[in-house]
Amino acid sequence: MNDSIESSNVIKIPIDKLALGMFVSAIDHQYSKVAISNPGQIKHRDAILKLKKNSIAFVWVDIERSSDTCGLKKSNRSSSAIRPLMRKATATRDGQQAQAKKLLAEAKGLIKKVMSETFGGKAIEVGEFEAVADKMIESVMGDADAFKCISALRTKDAYLFEHSINVAFLLVTFGKHLNLDRELLKQMAVGGILHDIGKIKVDNEILHKPGKLTPEEFEHIKLHQFYAIEIMNETKGLSQVSKDVCLMHHEKLDGRGYPNGLKDEQLPQHGRMSCIVDIFDALTATRCYKEAMSPAAAFKIMISLTPFHLDQKLVYEFIRCVGIYPVGSLVQLSDHRIGIVWDSKGRDALHPIVKCFYSIKYKRYTDVTMVDLFKSELHIERGVSPSMLDVDPSPFY
Ligand SMILES: [Fe+2]
Repeated sequence: MNDSIESSNVIKIPIDKLALGMFVSAIDHQYSKVAISNPGQIKHRDAILKLKKNSIAFVWVDIERSSDTCGLKKSNRSSSAIRPLMRKATATRDGQQAQAKKLLAEAKGLIKKVMSETFGGKAIEVGEFEAVADKMIESVMGDADAFKCISALRTKDAYLFEHSINVAFLLVTFGKHLNLDRELLKQMAVGGILHDIGKIKVDNEILHKPGKLTPEEFEHIKLHQFYAIEIMNETKGLSQVSKDVCLMHHEKLDGRGYPNGLKDEQLPQHGRMSCIVDIFDALTATRCYKEAMSPAAAFKIMISLTPFHLDQKLVYEFIRCVGIYPVGSLVQLSDHRIGIVWDSKGRDALHPIVKCFYSIKYKRYTDVTMVDLFKSELHIERGVSPSMLDVDPSPFY
């Protein structure tokens, strides 16, 4: 393990850099990390000498629990083993994650409210959705990594809300990739948030059935799009693009989709995009009747649905946009560690920063470390779906 390429709140430093006030949590013994029975701050030089005498070359120091004066908490540019910038980046990212969580909670709350109001026969207020769409666009235009990570973390019981938000978010991300203008992105996002609104009128038992649907049940689920036509017709101020995104996400290029059996040129680009993102998000989510797929496995299925169902050119463009290892997805590194793709800014798809937390070789959690694949000799072995793991990755998001 190379200490210059991995970082977290606990860092590995050479014994020569160990100073008074640093909190030692483990020592490096015969190239492996050994937790010590009495971790604590170094109070006397004798403790350092004792470690040296015992031929300890490296120690693990917890930055958070070290004293403010030990040199770790302030910018200490003279120390090559310590990376103060990483702490700043982490703090910024924490703030961004908190903001992303807030935005998602707000969007979820809005969808819940509107769904129950629609169920009660109330007309949809478009303005509220536009405000959420605007915030979503802001977050995609800026640094979307935090949002991607938070939205990758899904709960089984909130599928409909999370799926609606993710479809909107993916439409904005995809639209930005295609250089569509901001107003169009906003209309697409509103359509994405509302795209499954018709499900509010579908029988809940069938909607959440754990097993395979009978043909009759599937016909019943398809009704959600016919209900959506009614709801769209009653909604004032909704753009045609938003309506199209909502009403076209189950259409197919060969005309065999529903609710209108539109085909080829009858399906505009934003309508075709809605079919792609809806399928991608459904495949990569855990449902009551199936496990989540890795993005790579989902792409394979989506390619098999071209050109009769999905637009082939757009599917390939979508894969380029999302990337084979999107931020928030799980990957296995060449040293058998599992991590979350954490940061992809300014990088190619194969060299993100990965937040590692588990070893499938040893079947146990590891220290949480950020591995920068630009600087590391490690590489991504494959994308992993959460169902392939025997542990829950959610605490590490
Ligand atoms: Fe749908």
